[in-house]
Order: sequence, then C-alpha cells, then structure tokens
Amino acid sequence: DASDKGEFRHYMLKEIYEQPKVIAACLEGRISEDRVLTSSFGADSAFLKDVENIHIVACGTSYHAGMVAKYWIEELANIPCSVEVASEYRYRKVAVPKKSLFLTLSQSGETADTLAAMRMAKGLGYLTTLAICNVPSSTLVRESDLTLLTRAGTEIGVASTKAFTTQLTALLITSIAIAAEKGELSDDKHTALVHALRSLPSYVDAAIKQDSAIKLVSEHFANKHNALFLGRGPMFPIALEGALKLKEISYIHAEAYPAGELKHGPLALVDETMPIITVAPNNQMLDKLKSNLQEVRARGGELFVFGAKETGFAQAEGIHYNEIPWVEEVLEPIVHTIPLQLLSYHVAVVKGTDVDQPRNLAKSVTVE
Ligand code: G6P
Repeated sequence: DASDKGEFRHYMLKEIYEQPKVIAACLEGRISEDRVLTSSFGADSAFLKDVENIHIVACGTSYHAGMVAKYWIEELANIPCSVEVASEYRYRKVAVPKKSLFLTLSQSGETADTLAAMRMAKGLGYLTTLAICNVPSSTLVRESDLTLLTRAGTEIGVASTKAFTTQLTALLITSIAIAAEKGELSDDKHTALVHALRSLPSYVDAAIKQDSAIKLVSEHFANKHNALFLGRGPMFPIALEGALKLKEISYIHAEAYPAGELKHGPLALVDETMPIITVAPNNQMLDKLKSNLQEVRARGGELFVFGAKETGFAQAEGIHYNEIPWVEEVLEPIVHTIPLQLLSYHVAVVKGTDVDQPRNLAKSVTVE
C-alpha cells in the first residue's frame, strides 16, 4: 500500500528502498532471455526501425532522465537526439527533421508544460509521439500515440526517486530496441545488454546496502551552505540530479557541472568550505575526472567520491571515499543515482527539513 510508510520514517526513504522491486517490474515482459521485446511498445512498433532523429521533452527530474538517454541513444542507435525542458520547447519555433520521434518523460503525466509541448508537437509532423510515464490513467498517456509505462507505483515524496530510475530503465529498453531494429547492434552486444539489464535490480539492491555508510557521510553537510556536483559523460546528468535532490529537500545551494567545465568558472568558488561530490565512472573518462578532482584538491576543496573499487579511489586527506558496486558501464547512471538519493535524504534528515513535502514545491505542477 503506497500510503503506508511501513518501517520507514519518510516516504522518500521507502521509495528509495522500493527501487529493486519496481525496476524489476519495469523490465517484466519487456525483455526475453537475450532480447528487448518490440511488443513493449504495443502493436505499432514500426517507428523503432523508421526513426532517424529524437526530440526528448520533459521537466525537472524527468528532464535529467532524458539527458542520460541522449548518451545511450547516440551511442547505441547512432541517431541524433536532443533534449529540452518543456517550458522552453513550447514557446519557440522548433525545426523538426524528417522521421523524428517526439518523446516525453513524466512521472505524473499531468505536468502542464509537458502536456502543452506534446499538444504542440502533434502539429509539427513527427513520426509519432511516445510517452514514458508512470501514471496509466494520466492525460499524457491518453493523448500520446504510444506509451511505455514505468510501473514505479505511486510516488508520494515530492523529490522523485523510484520514478527517475524506472524512467532510466524504460529509456535504456527504448534505446536498445531502436538500436536493434535499426541494425546498429550486433547479436552479441544485444545479448550482453539484456544480461546487464537482468542484473539491474540486484545491483540497485547492493547500492542501497551502502545506506548506513552514506548516512555517516551526510553529517559532514550539516553546516554547509553550498555544494558542487561534478560528473562527466552520462554521469553529468546524474550530477545534475544529485544537486537537484540536495537543494530540493535540504535547501543547500547545489550546482552541478560537467567536470571538464570546472576551469571555466566554478573553480573560483572552491575553497575549504566547499564540498565537491562526484560519482566516478569506470571508463576512459576516469583519468580525466581524476585530474579535474586534483585541481579541486589543490584549492582545498573537500571531496566526496562514490565509485567502484576498480576506480582506484581510496580514503585520503580531504577525500571521503565510499565504495559502490561495480556494474556494466551502460548501467552506471542508474545504479550510481542511488548513493546521491541516499545522501540528499540523510542530509535533509540531519538538517531537520520536511523531507517528503519541501517548502514551495509541488509533486505535480499542473499549472504554468
Ligand atoms: C515537479 C516535481 C518533480 C518532477 C517535475 C516533473 O517539479 O516536484 O519531482 O520531476 O515536477 O514532473 P513529471 O510528473 O512531469 O515527471
């Protein structure tokens, strides 16, 4: 029962802990042993093969999910993808390339700007409109041509958690389906991706097991007024989402930057009072990230690093390191979201804010 907090003090924590289960629900019936099933998109799945360009439009946390998807779609399916907040998209002249897919992301399916953008898009000659949404009876689902439901169950905490990771799961399914239908994916690669997806619920479960270690880390934030999140590649949108969570529920001013942009501005803010949070990827960007972090350390910034032990990070002077499980690179944005959710949750608890109902914010923004 969604309205029962059970053993949990807040809905947000309960919803964080539900993620292995709801991600498994999101995968259910959408993958076979070794393939993503095109039937996941209903009878009319021809767009998977025909699509040559994608416009993703969303707001808030859903927008961050879209930003991750851009990396997956361009990498796996080799087609251009752009991502935009709905409140901007709806008020400009949009050039729509031939055979473009219009893809909305929304937990509620009732966000006014996202609905207005979708209604506008319907007159712009898109191939089709697809909604990745959590609420089956929502306006967005009713009015879109196609739907992929995220199956996260009712989300009550204003700060979105399980809705986000199930959106990412649905977006990875979509990216793989498009890549496969367009002939961009070898059979072996397809099988490997589906096997990785099958492990996702257990990886997320392992990440949640770091809860008590992350709770200890959160105490360092009790008196902070600012925080800087850094990420590279698909971990940049995860840094954005980490910063959004922290500011939403703990009221600490937080910003996120792609780590390579550090020297173009935010480095000026770094001193001993500035915590810098990063989730380290286990790929060719790791060394670049490490050199960005050295620049931060050299200016006295206090680092909080989450990464698999394969990244080679360790506890050191000015570096708080927390281990998270190794996962296949493609899954990192999903699994590495967990420690940032837990961090913002515990910081909010330490600060004594209203975790589930932060001031000035609404769960669903149904007016402009
Ligand atoms: C509000 C909520 C956010 C959510 C955003 C978009 O700002 O507080 O958690 O990400 O709306 O909502 P949607 O339902 O469209 O995903």
